Amino acid sequence: MNIMKYETVALDENDPALLILDQTKLPNDPEIIRLTDIHDIHRAIQTLQVRGAPAIGIAAAFGLYITAMKIRDEDSGTFLARLKDARDYLNSARPTAVNLSWALNRVYHVAEINAGKSIPEIIEAMRREAIAIKSEDTDTCRRIGEYGLTLIHDGDGILTHCNAGQLATSKYGTALAPIHLGREKGMNFHVYCDETRPLLQGARLSAFELVADGVDTTLICDNMASQVMKEGRVNAVFVGCDRLAANGDACNKIGTSGVAILAKYYGIPFYVFCPASTIDMTIKTGAEIVIEQREPEEITEMWYSKRMAPEDVKVYNPAFDVTGHELISGIVTEFGIARPPYSESIKEILRPGRLL
Ligand code: MRU
Repeated sequence: MNIMKYETVALDENDPALLILDQTKLPNDPEIIRLTDIHDIHRAIQTLQVRGAPAIGIAAAFGLYITAMKIRDEDSGTFLARLKDARDYLNSARPTAVNLSWALNRVYHVAEINAGKSIPEIIEAMRREAIAIKSEDTDTCRRIGEYGLTLIHDGDGILTHCNAGQLATSKYGTALAPIHLGREKGMNFHVYCDETRPLLQGARLSAFELVADGVDTTLICDNMASQVMKEGRVNAVFVGCDRLAANGDACNKIGTSGVAILAKYYGIPFYVFCPASTIDMTIKTGAEIVIEQREPEEITEMWYSKRMAPEDVKVYNPAFDVTGHELISGIVTEFGIARPPYSESIKEILRPGRLL
């Protein structure tokens, strides 16, 4: 299966349903699943059947539209009240990535501003908005990729953590967009994928989509990054982001901050890739970001044929960490590359009129 030809998230418009490539089955058993029930959509986001900040935003936006179709026979007051509950429920699936609430609020806002119109008209406006979020994401990722390409040269070694690739977005990805775009232009890079414990997004997803795209890809365990950097194999580190604070602190998959510290030590530039929609100007620093905590079994049992830790051991399983802005060489967005001091350059990226 060439993953590059498949859509991560799609809407079946004829018989409204959310179609997702089930990422819990990758790389071995690729399967497209079809969801119409809000509880199933919530579960799909929570269990990482669909994952990656932009992809969960798109999935939730389609989920809200599908829910609106189901409650279209309500009177308009009840319709809007139930829609708000649906928005809040979908938003509760995961706490860290800002794109989830951002996309849900966009679709809900369209319903609110059209409240005086008929319910079919409101739903049509919601459908258009959800589809726009997805197509804008493709355009955004491509632009992020173009900016990212200016940071590297053909043949460079790039280390990445988790999956901020096509599987995490509508197309191209963010941190992996320059690599995929480079392939389209006949370039090749040597990508080192951290396997990304505990859920193996690097091994199962990044390595999978890069190999499928013909990229020279090497998988390493997370604890090998230092050695690989020391051997001079890495020219730059490219990672994604789930929420970026106003001062440039970047929250991403657990382990990212350790990679940033190593990169600083070895003098390797460390770049964070994110759409402007991932920037949360309501928080001053990364300390305010809610870090998702996940089940202990992801560490003690998952992927093993039998449990690999004593029954009564305590487990701590934060899904994300925050990389301090002082470790970041640049933040690559669709509007350009922000450089330190971020409190100034991020404001320029978000200057009025650029983001809905
Ligand atoms: O828990 P996940 O797999 O959803 O975490 C994903 C990441 O940390 C990505 O790097 C981030 O969402 C950016 S995706 C373009």
